[in-house]
Amino acid sequence: MSRSAERWLIELMADRARTALDAAMVLVVLKERGELHVAAASGRGHVRASVLPIEGSALGALYEAGRPVSVDRPLPGQADWLTELGIEGHAAVVAPLPIDGPDGGMIMAVRSDAAFGDQDATTLAAHGARLTRQLMAERNAELERLRYGAQARERERERWARELHDDTVQGLGVLRMQLANARDSGDTQRLRAAVEEALAGLEREVQGIRHLITELRPAALDDLGLAAALQALARRAQAVYGLQAHTEFHLGPDGEQRRLDPELETTIYRVVQEALTNVSRHAQASSVHIVVAETDGTITAAVTDDGRGFPAGAPVQAAADRAALADPTADGQVESGEAAGGGNAPGGFGMPGMRERAELVGGTLQIASAPGQGTTIRLAVPLAGRPHFAADGSVTA
Ligand SMILES: Nc1ncnc2c1ncn2[C@@H]1O[C@H](COP(=O)(O)OP(=O)(O)OP(=O)(O)O)[C@@H](O)[C@H]1O
Ligand SMILES: [Mg+2]
Repeated sequence: MSRSAERWLIELMADRARTALDAAMVLVVLKERGELHVAAASGRGHVRASVLPIEGSALGALYEAGRPVSVDRPLPGQADWLTELGIEGHAAVVAPLPIDGPDGGMIMAVRSDAAFGDQDATTLAAHGARLTRQLMAERNAELERLRYGAQARERERERWARELHDDTVQGLGVLRMQLANARDSGDTQRLRAAVEEALAGLEREVQGIRHLITELRPAALDDLGLAAALQALARRAQAVYGLQAHTEFHLGPDGEQRRLDPELETTIYRVVQEALTNVSRHAQASSVHIVVAETDGTITAAVTDDGRGFPAGAPVQAAADRAALADPTADGQVESGEAAGGGNAPGGFGMPGMRERAELVGGTLQIASAPGQGTTIRLAVPLAGRPHFAADGSVTA
């Protein structure tokens, strides 16, 4: 989730900078693991190289210089970084991103027909500073999510609210201004171009708002209920990744009709969603089973794949380490496969995130895996003390 949220944020900010500067392209380049990565490329045309070394490349030298740069009809040797990226441009401006720490970045705008002025360089730098602030907030929120659980969640909500206000409201304001200017100019062609631009901008803002909303609670859960929402996830895994996906529900005497409280439904949905994403990304599986059942007052949700599995102690251990970091007193709850140690798969945020969600509803998460024997992720949550939801959604206890 975190990486996609970060990516979405960078792309959105690149789009906005491009509109503000009326540029042909805007690129955001970030240093990651000692290389330069093109994290977003907004605009016409595409980038030939998306990863470049820092040592020995013109882009690397530009990055190391760490200064704003502006070029207009560059002579050979003056802006070889454009050639390295495979971008043709008449003019370019670059602003370093003021990111704390060793891994910085830069934002770059390119025009194919006109030069950039001083004001453009200032606008680009302002967008760069804004992107940096948001990126750092995103990364800090991610770290805090791991460290402080519920408290961070609250802060995360505040951040979303702020983002809605600062970004979406401001983005819409820019669109309104563009349309009004075009209307006042009385120039039909300009008006038409502004409408096209506004339609594209609106589409971006709508996507942004959708993204925010699904981050908070998947719409499918409210509209359809847990069983149907999970079936939709399974169908998607089948359609997009070609996985044979089966779902089974044994929820009390009412079968699929039984609703659980919203917090628990969201948790189950999110855990199954991350587990399915992991299956499609890492497992090389052909089939996956999702079983949600109620036994002896406990709800379990298990996602089992027939993929390649992973050695005990590899990603799982990394996940357990992270969980221990989040709460040094917590018991790891990791059910390993066979031998401990070994393995070099780096753990991401998915597993610790699933564990944290489990803990927030008073449950546990177990991970069972071994090389060649598939993987099972099992969430177990006791129902005692939770509100009881009847089929019609009314609360009975
Ligand atoms: N079903 C699976 N089959 C095989 N390997 C898996 C499976 N699920 C997870 N893994 C391994 O466990 C690692 C950690 O998973 P996790 O979800 O924590 O991180 P990620 O998917 O790599 O990154 P993120 O979830 O942060 O985008 C994965 O990188 C992968 O090596
Ligand atoms: Mg994952």
